[in-house]
Amino acid sequence: MTIKPLMVLLSTVALLPAQPNLMPWPAKIALMPGRLPIDQSFRVGFSGYQDQRLRAAEYRFIAHLSMQTGIPIPHSSTGDSAQATLEIQCEHAGEPVQKLGEDESYRLDVSEKHARLSAPGPLGILRGLETFLQLVEPGAQNFAALAVSIEDKPRFPWRGLHLDVSRHWMPVAVVKRNIAGMAAVKLNVFHWHLSDDQGFRVESKRYPKLQQMGSDGQYYTQEEVRDVVAFARERGIRVVPEFDIPGHSSSWIVAYPELASAAGDYEIERKWGVFDPTMDPTREYTYEFLDNFIGEMAELFPDRFFHIGGDEVNGKQWKSERHILDFMREHKLKDNQELHAYFNKRIQAIVTKHGKRMEGWDEILNPDLPKDIVIQSWRGQKSLAEAARLGYSGLLSSGYYLDHIEPAAVLYMVDPLEKESASLTAEEKARVLGGEVCMWAEYVTAENVDSRIWPRTAAIAERLWSPSEVRDIASMYRRLEVVSQNLDYLGLTHHSSYRTMLERFSAGEPVEPLKVLADVLYPGNLGQRTRTHKYTQQTPLNRLVDAVRPESRTAREFAALVDRMDKPQIRAWLTLWRDNDAKLKPIFGKSFLLTEDVQVSKDLSQVATIGLEALDYIDHGKRPPAAWLAQQKVFLENARKIRQELFIAIVPSIQKLVAGL
Ligand code: ACM
Repeated sequence: MTIKPLMVLLSTVALLPAQPNLMPWPAKIALMPGRLPIDQSFRVGFSGYQDQRLRAAEYRFIAHLSMQTGIPIPHSSTGDSAQATLEIQCEHAGEPVQKLGEDESYRLDVSEKHARLSAPGPLGILRGLETFLQLVEPGAQNFAALAVSIEDKPRFPWRGLHLDVSRHWMPVAVVKRNIAGMAAVKLNVFHWHLSDDQGFRVESKRYPKLQQMGSDGQYYTQEEVRDVVAFARERGIRVVPEFDIPGHSSSWIVAYPELASAAGDYEIERKWGVFDPTMDPTREYTYEFLDNFIGEMAELFPDRFFHIGGDEVNGKQWKSERHILDFMREHKLKDNQELHAYFNKRIQAIVTKHGKRMEGWDEILNPDLPKDIVIQSWRGQKSLAEAARLGYSGLLSSGYYLDHIEPAAVLYMVDPLEKESASLTAEEKARVLGGEVCMWAEYVTAENVDSRIWPRTAAIAERLWSPSEVRDIASMYRRLEVVSQNLDYLGLTHHSSYRTMLERFSAGEPVEPLKVLADVLYPGNLGQRTRTHKYTQQTPLNRLVDAVRPESRTAREFAALVDRMDKPQIRAWLTLWRDNDAKLKPIFGKSFLLTEDVQVSKDLSQVATIGLEALDYIDHGKRPPAAWLAQQKVFLENARKIRQELFIAIVPSIQKLVAGL
């Protein structure tokens, strides 16, 4: 008997009885009847090419499966793949250094008896193993993987996460757990932002003062860098280092003031923003230094690409230094932009000499540069399209800035080939390599960074991997929650740190009422926070705004209740919020950290009270007095605004209730 696959049409995804919680959604998937039970007899067998990386992947896979199910599955792979529960068939070895565009495709067939994962290269096997883990769910009788037939490959070859480790230091453990998370959602480039005004984070043996004077002792040794690179390679992830020059370079200049455009007493920058210290593009010393430095780093980081930053050069020092103005006149460079382009051309030659392709933020775009550079677009999609038209490869990061605190639904809809890129020719579109999620570290520490990255990054990972037609937001959110839970098994702390940060405030009192409040708050974004407080690198990030999550799931679900006017549930939530303020009194009395939030809690209570009154009017079919209505509208408009750098996420839903009266 042949089994007729149930083809999954994207438009009907939401209607399927057993939709697998896959993220990113595969290029092609057919759901089959039945499930493959997962128990202690589970065995993996290899047929075809094998190497250390594949065996390590299998080992991690079994360990993860054991954690996910709680079943201790012994690790004893079978040489006889016919006996295996999951047969892995890889055709050939991968590249010695993972290449951009290296084949990541795979095929996964799961039936009630057996699963088979096949791929041309090891990367496809790595991706397919992650898919398999996502197929495993508890059922009525056992854990099982849904039966499917999947043929999968990425839409874009460059799918990255950028992490700033300069403004706030991120220890190796943070980096590793996030790389593990990247692998789970099939991202393949870790962009390591290693230097900025606020810190220089890698050991240089050639120029040791960089880490000695530029890092407060917080830097990665070369041994640690090699370890992280190996960790990423095991997971099919390239590591692209960024050393941001010629601006954003205070921390270098502290150590080697000879690099600066102007004489001065330099210090590691402690504040956020764009600063004056800039490397001197007119002196040969600068290029000799960078030649030696880039040569050293080119050996340490095996990836073919090398990011030189190039963003936000404010040019003040260039405009005010006599010798620089003279140099510009002699070299017929009419403005700072041309001087910056001159610098980039010199650096590009150095990067190329050391065997690398240069990458930079979109400010480096200049038609005089060779076409093999890569432009990372952050100021808008326009520069990505412009780069592609000029013959340059590019990546989209504009729209993927996690510190802008957009909900997953917004991030999810940002597409590298839309807006200005939509009108590109097919040839130009092929130059759009993909995108990178950006995690800048002004307002994150090792404690809360995971909660800013996850789970939202998984939604962007889907945008970059899956066919462009995959864009059902409800389906995305449903799957995102499950994926988010699974990330816990990798040691990510986006759930656990929320709890521990709230417990820090509660000082032994029950944390639940604080959680009720925090669950409906979200933080202001980078700009809003910078405008509100004078932050420095030493400002503790231990306030409620640092604990709350970038997107309120509770508020999102409440909005859905309001949309379908589920009155009993709406009333239950509103009652909880109204009464929560009283329950918070003991905690408020105990923790100085929460003093500023007393009013936020009162406001939530008042917002909920208004919602309940609105419900009463609706229930009684009465119109409220005009004065009441006007007063509540004013209150809600105010409640919608930022306070203590926080937003109350349910206010728009209450406004909707009131507007309907
Ligand atoms: C950037 O956000 N300055 C690249």
